[in-house]
Amino acid sequence: MTDTKIQGVKGMPDVLPPQAARMRHLEETAARVFGRAGFAELRLPLLEHEALFRRSVGDASDIVQKEMYRLEDLGGRALALRPEGTAGMVRSLVEHRLVQPGEERRFWYAGPMFRQERPQKGRQRQFHQIGVEVFGSAAPELDAEIMALNLRFLEACGVAGLVLRVNSIGGPASRAAYRHLLLGFLEPRRDGLCEDCDRRLDLNPLRVLDCKREGCQDLLKDAPRPADALDEDDRSHDARVRAGLEQLGVAWQPDPGLVRGLDYYSRTVFEIHGEGLGAQSAVSAGGRYDGLVAASGGGDVPAFGFAVGLERLLLVLEAGGALRLDEAPRIGWIALDDEARSEALPILDGLRTAGLTAVAFWHKGSVKAQMRAADGAGCRLVMLRGLDERTSGSVAVRDLADGSQQTLPLDPDTLPARLAAMLRREPAGT
Ligand code: HAM
Repeated sequence: MTDTKIQGVKGMPDVLPPQAARMRHLEETAARVFGRAGFAELRLPLLEHEALFRRSVGDASDIVQKEMYRLEDLGGRALALRPEGTAGMVRSLVEHRLVQPGEERRFWYAGPMFRQERPQKGRQRQFHQIGVEVFGSAAPELDAEIMALNLRFLEACGVAGLVLRVNSIGGPASRAAYRHLLLGFLEPRRDGLCEDCDRRLDLNPLRVLDCKREGCQDLLKDAPRPADALDEDDRSHDARVRAGLEQLGVAWQPDPGLVRGLDYYSRTVFEIHGEGLGAQSAVSAGGRYDGLVAASGGGDVPAFGFAVGLERLLLVLEAGGALRLDEAPRIGWIALDDEARSEALPILDGLRTAGLTAVAFWHKGSVKAQMRAADGAGCRLVMLRGLDERTSGSVAVRDLADGSQQTLPLDPDTLPARLAAMLRREPAGT
């Protein structure tokens, strides 16, 4: 045995308190907001066959090319830790026939995703997403509804002032026309592209538009945009999506350069950006993917969805000063003598069963040390019990917010309600 400490894996941080409670709060908000819009929760495995992501996210995408955690199991199967949720969702949909032709179904999911990117603020190798996916409707109203729902969810979490950026990359015909246009523009300028983009040009020229390198960005300034190649149907779909957003009165902006880094999108794509994130400013992103279910063997089922990055959402909440989490106020047990210490177990148990948050400080000896621990634990009330209280069958309860004190009967039937009333009381002098 060596005594070298083994550290956590780079980019895969532990989610410590209070961050974990904040994340749970976001997930509870998701359950409420999405539940009201007809969504059901679904839980998907973290491991899938690697081929799934190659096919859905795309062989030429950065995610598949550079970022996926691959592993081989004992049976020699090529698996991958999921870099995102949509591919697994569609796999599950097809496998369990979750949607019949002519039906619409809505699902949401939450959990960790894995991408081997260079960690920086707002970018981790294990991060968390809350995602929604709607299957079975090609209506432009759905696009507007779900983008607005994304904003409403973020608002319900406490963020305001976010901007929704929207674009259309068109259906397969328009994209083929655009690919042609873009190739015509990029081929003669190939020498100016970085090594990655040189490769992308052959695999999937659209991916060149995602490149963050300055040289490529400069070169792309005059490149044709997806809108230049949209056919009549795609144009009309896009116009109706925009009209829907106007009707809903949400804050949105057209973003003609937005294409997204995953291959499955068609027509509407969008991102929602927040303040205080630096380079990684997309809090949420998604769009329509009408061809993915069919390409996965599930028939003609159009779809629309998005995923919110929880770490980024928490950063935006922090920057906006909106990281409040109302924890239940605590009640501490302060044993004034040894006998009071041994009385504590059934009392704490009873208070917790009654729905209160009650703690004792077993690791502390003196009354002073227990009081300090109660303060450190953020207790609002402390129950003090010693010989006097035992003689009169009572407990002294001190409100640490204003120092006031009451003596209550130590009666398991009445104590929880009396303590709850004390917790509800405004402290004196506030
Ligand atoms: P995505 O744009 O790859 O889309 O990721 C969605 C969100 O996840 C991002 O906007 C960001 O907030 C967060 N995110 C992505 N990578 C990281 C990272 N390395 N560290 C921290 N946060 C990150 C998707 O994943 C699609 N599946 C969305 C979708 C659902 N489209 C249709 N349905």
